This record gives sequence, structure tokens and C-alpha cells, in this order.
Amino acid sequence: MALKAYVKGPLPGPRSRELFARWAKAEAQCTGYQARVAWDHALGVVVTDVDGNTFIDWTSGVLVTNVGHCHPHLVQTVQAASAKLLNNYECLHEARVNAAERLVSILPAHLDKCFFLTTGAEATEGAIRIMKRKSGKFEILSFYGSFHGRTYAALSAGGLPGPKRGFGPTAPGSLRVPYPHCYRCPFRAKPETCGMLCLDFIDDSLRANSTGSLAGVLVEPYQGTAGFIFPPKGWLAQLERWIRERGLLFALDEVQSSYGRTGKMFAMEWEQLQPDLVCIGKGIGSGVPVSAIGARGDVIDALGAGELGSTMGGNPVACAAVIAVIEIMEQEKLEENALRIGGIMKSRLLTMMERSPFVGDVRGMGLVMGVELVKDKKTKEPAPDLTRKLIDLAANHGLLIGSVGGFGNVIRVAPPLVISEAEAHESLDIFEKSLAQL
Ligand SMILES: Cc1ncc(COP(=O)(O)O)c(C=O)c1O
Repeated sequence: MALKAYVKGPLPGPRSRELFARWAKAEAQCTGYQARVAWDHALGVVVTDVDGNTFIDWTSGVLVTNVGHCHPHLVQTVQAASAKLLNNYECLHEARVNAAERLVSILPAHLDKCFFLTTGAEATEGAIRIMKRKSGKFEILSFYGSFHGRTYAALSAGGLPGPKRGFGPTAPGSLRVPYPHCYRCPFRAKPETCGMLCLDFIDDSLRANSTGSLAGVLVEPYQGTAGFIFPPKGWLAQLERWIRERGLLFALDEVQSSYGRTGKMFAMEWEQLQPDLVCIGKGIGSGVPVSAIGARGDVIDALGAGELGSTMGGNPVACAAVIAVIEIMEQEKLEENALRIGGIMKSRLLTMMERSPFVGDVRGMGLVMGVELVKDKKTKEPAPDLTRKLIDLAANHGLLIGSVGGFGNVIRVAPPLVISEAEAHESLDIFEKSLAQL
């Protein structure tokens, strides 16, 4: 089997170096740390840079290209759609109707309507708007470590420092409680014996912080940006029960967890959750900018004319992409592939954790996993410097990885869902070799 990764010499190559220098002069450098590689083109799981080096991609952009980079069916669909109609704002076109029907057809039955937007933040911001509008209340409960985007209501609900620094005051009514982060539990409890005390703590926190005007809860099924933090089994179902007992609205942020990432089309399927609203982004367009809110009709219909919309939302090209992506996911059974290859990858990563002094935790499911790097496994002191070193080492061996986490010390293992077993092993070999060189 021919290997896919090939790096000619130390990175960045000459063309990449030149582009990085020009870029630093022309555009603000406020994006996160990435390998010093300027992408040229990509197909499936392989990225080729401007110097002709090839890499296996564990980033999928940022969990976007679920059907693989530049999938031919998606590319052809987008080309045909853009030749026909590029934009029409809110005037109706058939692709929008078809896409809405198709999206609703794959959502759980109780979510019988949807609405198209462009970014994930627009979807979460929209969900917050709908919860306030429907309930007539203004407080939103969210979680420490959460990330819902960088617009105002979304970042106010967020629980990470980066997007908020210097941006206060945040929106009134933003209430946050701890997410079940079992590797770094804020209560210093053990998952085997804690009885999910973080759920009980919500009532305590609300007694102290709420004015009694709680509209609803916004939560991620796993926290991506915080470092791929997965709640213990049953926690989300118990949270849903807690929400229902109090008559609140329930919005699930599946901007990154949907479209097969966890091994099911939507992560909510694992615990048969029935949120009132689900925010969808990233994989829905697999590279084409589109997002959506899936909703119970009686909840989203609280919005009147002109109360939600966006210049690019529901444009014909995005809508054509929505349908093509679903077709690819179904035809290529990408949920199944995510589960099967994810299982193979996780078991090898767990073996690496035992051998490496720096891998403190490996967590996740399907093709979304986090590898947390620490200076010392006992103290769990985060190792962001080693993480950046690992990103560079891996790139030099032909593997593209990125980092996330409140401490910038978690490697994202999130390749496109089309990854084959051979590509998984080749990339894991590179990762193992890079870890050994830390
Ligand atoms: C869970 C979640 N919600 C919302 C967003 C924001 O999406 P966007 O960057 O498209 O606005 C992200 C992006 O990473 C996300 O992971």
C-alpha cells in the first residue's frame, strides 16, 4: 500500500515561508497555532501544501470536511448550483425548500422544522434568541468551558476565557455552571463515586445567581473547543430530565458534533435526547459555509417575520451542498466508518498513552478524540509547549494536527470521516513516532 504522507524537507518549505511572511504583513495574526504549512489543495484525507508536500489530515479544517476534502460529488454539485443562481437573499428558490425538507428528514421526528444560516455562531445566537422570545425570559444557563461562537450572545454563554478577554460586560443573564470534566473535575470528585454532583450543583448555583427569569439551557453534547471533554454516560439524559422538570427550553449545540462525527448522524442520538432546538454547522456543508437550526415547530414559530435571518443564510449554493453532503454520508455509510475506524484509532492511542510519559488522557468516540498532554501524569500540569512541539514534529513527518483546550494542551484527532484503515494506521505511526521525539 503506497504511503500518503510525504514531506521533502524541513517545514516550512520555501513557498510556505514566503506566504506566511506576506500574510503577517497583510492580515491580523489572531488565529490559533497551526503547523507552518500553507495549504494548496486537498482530496479525501490528504492535504498538499504549496511546496508539494503531502500530509494526512487529522483536523478536517476544524471538524468541517466530514465527507472528505473536495468530495467530487460535493464539488460538482456546488459548481452546478453556482452556475445557476448564486444569491437571492430571502426570495424563495427550490433548492432551499428541498434542503429544508431533506434536513428535517434526517432530524429526530420531533424536530420538524429548520432554518438556514451561515456560521455556527449564528445558529447558537439564533437558538438563544428563540429561547428568549418563546419564554419571554432572559437568562440562559450554559457551562464552564463551553464554546458557542464569537458573536455577542454566543460568547456571553461561552465558558472559555479566550473569546471573552477584554470584551465585557457580557450579556446580562448569562449564567454558567461546571460541565462534567472528569479528568479535571472542579469539585475534585471521582466519577465512580461522585453521583454526578455537578448536576445537583446547578440548583445551588441558580439559587444564588438567577433572578428567576431562566429561559433555557444551551449545552454541547461534548465540549470541543474546551478540549474534547465528554460527559459521563447518562449525564446529558439526566440534564434533559432536570430541564423538563423545570419547564425550561433545551438547546443542544451540535455545531461540531453532528454529521457523523461521533459515529451517529447527531450526537443526541446516543442518549435519545429530545432538545427543542439543535444548532448545526461545520459538517453540514463539509466546507461550504452553511449552518442551521433544527427545531420543534411550535418553538421556532415563536419568531415573527423579520426576527431571524442572515444575508447569506439559505443561499442556493449552500442549500445544494446540504443535500449533496447528506447523500454522500448515506451512500458511503460514513457514520459506520467513523465508529469502526475511530475504535481502531482509540485503542492504539490508549496504548500510546500507557507508553508515553506525556499523554495524560485519551478520550472521545467515533472520529472525535482528544489526546491531553501533561508535563507530569500525577500532577496533570498542562503541557502547551510540548503540544506545539508535537504539532510541528508531526507536520514534519506528514501529519496535520491541531490543538484545543482551555490550556492549549489537547491534540485534536478528528480526520475526515472517509479515512481508511490504512490511512488511519499510517497517520497513527507518524503520531507515535512524533510523540517519541518529544
Ligand atoms: C460547539 C460549537 N458551537 C459554535 C461554534 C461556532 O461556529 P462558527 O465558528 O462557525 O461560528 C463552534 C466552532 O468551533 C463550535 O465548536
